[in-house]
Amino acid sequence: MKSIAPRRIQISVIGAGTCSEAVHNLAEAVGAEIARRGAILVCGGLGGVMEAAACGARRAALAPAGRGLDIQRDRVGSRVGAALSPMAGEREPVRAFFGRRKGHRLSARRADLFTTLLPRLAIDLALAAPPDLRTLFAQAVGAVRLEIGFGGGEAMIAAAQARRDTGFIGVEPFANGMAKALAAIDNLGLDNVRLHFDDAAGLMAWLPDAALAGVDLIHPDPWPKRRHWKRRFVQDATVAELGRVLERGGELRFATDIADYASWTLQRLLRSDAFEWTAEAADDWRKPWPGFTATRYNAKAAREMRQSCFLVFRRR
Ligand SMILES: C[S@@+](CC[C@H](N)C(=O)[O-])C[C@H]1O[C@@H](n2cnc3c(N)ncnc32)[C@H](O)[C@@H]1O
Repeated sequence: MKSIAPRRIQISVIGAGTCSEAVHNLAEAVGAEIARRGAILVCGGLGGVMEAAACGARRAALAPAGRGLDIQRDRVGSRVGAALSPMAGEREPVRAFFGRRKGHRLSARRADLFTTLLPRLAIDLALAAPPDLRTLFAQAVGAVRLEIGFGGGEAMIAAAQARRDTGFIGVEPFANGMAKALAAIDNLGLDNVRLHFDDAAGLMAWLPDAALAGVDLIHPDPWPKRRHWKRRFVQDATVAELGRVLERGGELRFATDIADYASWTLQRLLRSDAFEWTAEAADDWRKPWPGFTATRYNAKAAREMRQSCFLVFRRR
């Protein structure tokens, strides 16, 4: 008699595309339970609850006690796909975004740009990354730089205008910031910018090794409370990932107006074999790097008389 393999149950997870930390944790636990029971997880959409469930499932499936998990990759969106990529033997993105996804209501024009312009500029993480990232851009570019958490895009847009021969990848999960950048790109007709409207962790895991000439992290969320320090973008794991995606001699530029985040970052970068601090004089940290464009948070720090700190590291 022909033996029939038992059919595994498929369980769909559908929920809000943005969620609080409590809901995220719950969804992660649900995903983990689905995996532990050997069912198949099918995600019904992108971000939030679905991504959390996928991450939980992945972790449980990889844990020694896990019973394995099939993910229907063709049924998930690119952002969830990125979260799941380790299931296919790819790199594991570490969740790094804990902030807001939406603020005040967008004007009709800005809202439209999410359906007209963003799909043309967004990087599709469901496709394999090209070995040469410069081919992502419509115009010929000599190098590619990344800005993580560009906020309203002030620095990225100014740099993209000033350096038309460089490709810029901007990452921002906050819709109002993304809308502002889209409007500027549209107004200025920039064709050397590509975007990722989500957590930078997924994009970084997707990037090939040594693909970037520079990475900017300008006033990242400081998470000042001790219990939230683990949410800071700069962690040993992200420093290692930054080292992987930067080419030799490439620059990681970091700015903050929170003294504690400055020393936190310095500590982590100084103990990384991949980077060296470029400072030559004792007060170099006070000086913005050449061509620095003040961002909203930088201007706010100046108004409130908080000294900003600028740290530049070189990939060894
Ligand atoms: C304090 S704001 C600074 C924005 C801008 N760089 C500036 O200086 O005005 C930090 C930004 O980082 C974004 N962010 C936080 N975590 C992120 C992550 N994991 N990936 C990408 N962006 C992130 C937030 O949405 C927010 O817009």
